[in-house]
Amino acid sequence: MNPYLLFFSHFLKNPKAVGAAAPLSQAVIDQIVKHLKKRIRLQSIRVLEVGAGIGNVTKSILHLLLPQDQLDIVEINPDYCDFINKRFSAQANLSIHCLSITDWQPAESYDFIVSTLPFNSFEPAFVESIFNHYKKLLKPNGILTYVEYMGLQDIHLAFSKGEKKKIIHQRKHVLENIQNRCLIEKKQIYTNFLPCNIYHLSMH
Ligand SMILES: C[S@@+](CC[C@H](N)C(=O)[O-])C[C@H]1O[C@@H](n2cnc3c(N)ncnc32)[C@H](O)[C@@H]1O
Repeated sequence: MNPYLLFFSHFLKNPKAVGAAAPLSQAVIDQIVKHLKKRIRLQSIRVLEVGAGIGNVTKSILHLLLPQDQLDIVEINPDYCDFINKRFSAQANLSIHCLSITDWQPAESYDFIVSTLPFNSFEPAFVESIFNHYKKLLKPNGILTYVEYMGLQDIHLAFSKGEKKKIIHQRKHVLENIQNRCLIEKKQIYTNFLPCNIYHLSMH
């Protein structure tokens, strides 16, 4: 199956878990891997990618890695896992783990975490638990990068009422709290299916 059809078909089946109708554009991906590209003072690096989909971000990460580096992918969808397993079968320093990030307990922590999870379709408490988990998975000088669609939360807020509105407010509060404490850099990219905010964070 065409990879973009594969991606889209799972969005139709489970829009909340996939969270996007199309994979991210190269302009967004270039911003996502920006700090990874600099890899200041690091001899070898460990990278975790969460929510790889059909692997377009993976491709750019792999392009920057040296033979001594390691990339772990945690992706919940078995069809996406099968696809990226085949797509990157020749890569010695890549491991793909097909499970939820909340169940991922590696022996070693990471220099970089790249997360493209659709936080804006998750429950606030779940979002908070994932960021707490990222903090444990990240080395003290490590960088966490995540992405969200620009303005989508505010549009949902404008058209929601009652309990739904309350949940969106709570999620916004959780994310703003994290940004206030941990933000290193925020970038806005307009050349994507929907414009995106990219956040680079230091969690310690
Ligand atoms: C917005 S898509 C990102 C796709 C991709 N990175 C791209 O280039 O656009 C979100 C991805 O997160 C995955 N996902 C959702 N919940 C997850 C979880 N709890 N643990 C790991 N992956 C998850 C989905 O299956 C999907 O592949």
